[in-house]
Amino acid sequence: MTMDPKVLAARFPGDFVFGVATAAFQIEGASKADGRKPSIWDAFSNMPGRVHGRHNGDIACDHYNRLEDDLDLIRSLGVSAYRFSIAWPRIIPEGTGAVNEKGLDFYDRLVDGLKARGIKAFATLYHWDLPLMLSGDGGWTARQTAYAFQRYARTAVARLGDRLDSIATFNEPWCSVWLSHLYGIHAPGERNMDAALHALHVTNLAHGLGVAAVRAERADLPVGLVLNAHQIYPASDSAEDRAAAERAFDFHNGVFFGPVFKGEYPERFLSALGHRLPAIQPGDMETISQPLDWWGLNYYTPMRLSADPSAEAVFPAAVDVPRAAADRTDIGWEINAPALGDLIRRLNAAYDLPECYITENGACYNMEVEDGAVDDQPRLDYVAAHLDVTADLIAEGYGMRGYFAWSLMDNFEWAEGYRMRFGLVHVDYATQVRTVKKSGQWYAALAGEFPKGN
Ligand code: NOJ
Repeated sequence: MTMDPKVLAARFPGDFVFGVATAAFQIEGASKADGRKPSIWDAFSNMPGRVHGRHNGDIACDHYNRLEDDLDLIRSLGVSAYRFSIAWPRIIPEGTGAVNEKGLDFYDRLVDGLKARGIKAFATLYHWDLPLMLSGDGGWTARQTAYAFQRYARTAVARLGDRLDSIATFNEPWCSVWLSHLYGIHAPGERNMDAALHALHVTNLAHGLGVAAVRAERADLPVGLVLNAHQIYPASDSAEDRAAAERAFDFHNGVFFGPVFKGEYPERFLSALGHRLPAIQPGDMETISQPLDWWGLNYYTPMRLSADPSAEAVFPAAVDVPRAAADRTDIGWEINAPALGDLIRRLNAAYDLPECYITENGACYNMEVEDGAVDDQPRLDYVAAHLDVTADLIAEGYGMRGYFAWSLMDNFEWAEGYRMRFGLVHVDYATQVRTVKKSGQWYAALAGEFPKGN
């Protein structure tokens, strides 16, 4: 593996997209500015015991007020694209009802600022900040939320679509479904399989309705979906563990990939839990499975699972067994770049997939500024290793079109609050001073090898 940016760059085609990524709630702050209303994450982060240190998104990186400087910062990283999310509670603050022009104005300035700097705009519609008002009506467990999302999608694209280069309906529905409604770790913090199964189908439906809304507004705007597909290894070679890993593939990947890319939920999942899904109405699966222009993979770490033989175990009856000896980042996630290759190969064998962007990849290391610099060599190593695997996949003929480092800068890491840092740029939250880390300088040298401009 090479660390030399020039040598690594030579392994990618000239039109490969190098970008950086963020999400609205994690960086914007200004949670009450210009008509924005609360999202489920504002409420959740203000409840005791949900987010580390009871941190919240009120100020975050204050990006809303520092937009121009942050756009210059992105430009200084030499990237040709920026992936960001649009905050539904800024655009339609109550979820349904009045459209907030001032919220749209912010994204107008963002997109114009990217264009002026020759940077492509990759927008995401839903990165977990559901307007709080919708939760009273059941949030993602209620079918009408899918229609509210459709209107939000259409409103955003009508205003911004002429200057976007790409749009995603959802970011990591695995998180906003299972982590939010079954495992209780993300907002709204439910632990309820029935609620989660409702959220699953409503989210899949909302994705499909969102695709239709985008296309109705702008047929030429490439639309896709960002999935944190899991590379799942059995914890041992036993037949039980291998079977558990197969079931878990259906549960963690198949319930999204199946409907979207095959128009059906996986059989094993349906026979175990199908009777607890909400009613699938005629036309739903066709709506969900409309062809996409691209899909995005967010990849950080693999899963290792073994069979859970306990009587109460529900599908997929598999438990996490972290590998005993593994290199880990500061958030505790196993570092495993080859697993990224295994995952892309496995998914392409199972589904007929359109071209792929790695829409997130990166590492949590919590180094601070010392003598004006942040020496985060392990992050640089992590990114280089995963790019090396991406280049291997391109050489094997997989349609990998781009790579977005997570993240542009340190930010609100959901239930972990501000203590976990993923940025190429360090943020001092007391002063809002940004310091480009060693990894950021290295990434700039790599991305700088590729042409920019729209
Ligand atoms: C996935 C999410 O999309 C992003 O919001 C999060 O910060 C990173 N992964 C790191 O956990």
